Amino acid sequence: ERVAVVGVPMDLGANRRGVDMGPSALRYARLLEQLEDLGYTVEDLGDVPVSLARASRRRGRGLAYLEEIRAAALVLKERLAALPEGVFPIVLGGDHSLSMGSVAGAARGRRVGVVWVDAHADFNTPETSPSGNVHGMPLAVLSGLGHPRLTEVFRAVDPKDVVLVGVRSLDPGEKRLLKEAGVRVYTMHEVDRLGVARIAEEVLKHLQGLPLHVSLDADVLDPTLAPGVGTPVPGGLTYREAHLLMEILAESGRVQSLDLVEVNPILDERNRTAEMLVGLALSLLGKRIF
Ligand code: ARG
Ligand code: MN
Ligand code: MN
Ligand code: MN
Repeated sequence: ERVAVVGVPMDLGANRRGVDMGPSALRYARLLEQLEDLGYTVEDLGDVPVSLARASRRRGRGLAYLEEIRAAALVLKERLAALPEGVFPIVLGGDHSLSMGSVAGAARGRRVGVVWVDAHADFNTPETSPSGNVHGMPLAVLSGLGHPRLTEVFRAVDPKDVVLVGVRSLDPGEKRLLKEAGVRVYTMHEVDRLGVARIAEEVLKHLQGLPLHVSLDADVLDPTLAPGVGTPVPGGLTYREAHLLMEILAESGRVQSLDLVEVNPILDERNRTAEMLVGLALSLLGKRIF
């Protein structure tokens, strides 16, 4: 089986600088070598070009770096769409705005289910966003809501085919949009009450028959385990919960693409956040203890 790794060294969608170094941190955490040890044939496609606008220019009002983010995500979309059938793409971020391109590219115009594993819903539009940061908007854009410059190229899923897991921070307008759109939301309240195993089974049932894209935001983990993130929220997934979720999704045999996003090495401790995500990716791709 083949895996293709693509980096998107982009921090234009986020508030804090440094998440553009995430792809390096994930590679240094030996993602590719460990996938090879699992038996995969792994190809590193390198990084998608990202504008250095941010280095030279302060953000204005409104949506920050809309065109620069659109351009990078569009290149990503095209690279994934061009992969041969059956190759499993793993996209290394970078801030979460890149997932507009990864989901749209992996879907190739077909119906897919999206499992968005995140402390946040990233379901803001320019109207509901309190920050103007595009990394708070990609899931809405994929569902057809948001700035027309983005939805015209990245709309790719039916919001009823989207499930959120691990949520614990929503903006008021975003919450309303999620309800109206019919997105299935498992907050940390449901994680505590039902447990991850039950949630994972429900997710698979809800998205029955669909190929799945998993978008894993490092901030879904408890910040004590994954401190290298720009928007930490207390009360996240434990090591065991996160691995169990990946293992049950893996057992379905339906996961076909993955994002590992929002790792910020500047805020991290000795690369432990990248190492956590690499461990979770390995579980999602079938690594087992026995
Ligand atoms: N909801 C907040 C916003 O819209 C935070 C989003 C955080 N997103 C992320 N991918 N870390 O700004
Ligand atoms: Mn996110
Ligand atoms: Mn998040
Ligand atoms: Mn395990």
